[in-house]
Amino acid sequence: MGLTKGAKLALLTSGGDAPGMNSVLRGAARVGAELGLEVVGIEDGYAGLMDGRAVTLDLRQLDEASRRGGTVLGTARSLVFPTAEGQRRAREAIVALGLDGLLVVGGNGSLTGARTLRDAATARGGTLLVGGVPASIDNDLACTSMSVGVDTAMNTIVEACDRIGDTATAHRRTFLVEVMGRDMGYLAMTAGIAAGADVVLVRETNKTDDDFVEQVVRAMVKAYKSGSAKRRVLVLKAEGVKIPTPDLKARVDARLAELLPDVDTRVTVLGHVVRGGAPSAFDRLLGARLANAAVRELARGRTDFMAGWFGPGATEERSADDPYVVVNPLEGVLAETAKLHRGESALAAWRKKIYAEVESILDR
Ligand code: F6P
Repeated sequence: MGLTKGAKLALLTSGGDAPGMNSVLRGAARVGAELGLEVVGIEDGYAGLMDGRAVTLDLRQLDEASRRGGTVLGTARSLVFPTAEGQRRAREAIVALGLDGLLVVGGNGSLTGARTLRDAATARGGTLLVGGVPASIDNDLACTSMSVGVDTAMNTIVEACDRIGDTATAHRRTFLVEVMGRDMGYLAMTAGIAAGADVVLVRETNKTDDDFVEQVVRAMVKAYKSGSAKRRVLVLKAEGVKIPTPDLKARVDARLAELLPDVDTRVTVLGHVVRGGAPSAFDRLLGARLANAAVRELARGRTDFMAGWFGPGATEERSADDPYVVVNPLEGVLAETAKLHRGESALAAWRKKIYAEVESILDR
């Protein structure tokens, strides 16, 4: 049986925040209200669930919040939740709060946590219905071509690189710009292409530190020694590339001290700047559409699933409510995601191929 009128649906944001999470919350709360559900928010992810911290959601507050980054519910990375104690506390809270459904908004770890509650008992004697919406700037979830937050993060990086390009050009400088993405190079590569980077360094190409140093050196020699009019070299480095960015700078400086004594190299680590900011139009719409499809699936009685954005995936059951949304069992999503992180999935192979091709094209 699905979530019928009067049933209680809880929304929870978990893991690293992502711009657009508030759009998911707004969409889920509005569709839930439309379906006659009682929709509440859980504060601070699974930490709040274990404490039973549920809050009433005000649609007007969510309308306002949906234009801002972060999450009005707060989020957390809970190390206690996966333990037996954490599971016990969460399951007790689900009964105490009278929850019939739970929609988890987050990345790989958060949706892994959601799956652990798929057999949780409810106060009404039923089983909790659990759905997931992918939200992580890393774009590290399978079975969705985009996670909420990725587009905004990409735009933030591109805007920052455009600004850095102004000063780099003025001074004939090289900038090593490090961006988030955990062990995924997706953000660095896509933003690098959009920002017109001269070099993009990502973990997936499995290069050595020496290779990375030589890639930057080649770009700088080509820019400053070949008589080209180039006055800046922009290098985007994914944080998953293990050589610390200051060490990369030091090694490039040492390699070019004699050949390019007048060229400066600087480091900018964008860090958490990439996670903040007003969500882009795409992320707001993506959040609303995934929320709409996910809540309607829960209302029909579907559980243990993730609503994803269309694209290459293992299985592609289309949502009955939106042809651009694919609905996959969480078990398959998480298994395919694990393969993506191990570099063993078709998507991982395609990304690795594209990254190598782009690097070669930029190396011209
Ligand atoms: O997973 C999102 C992310 O922003 C990663 O790109 C980054 O490595 C990590 O979170 C940082 O985690 P925290 O905000 O807990 O320092």
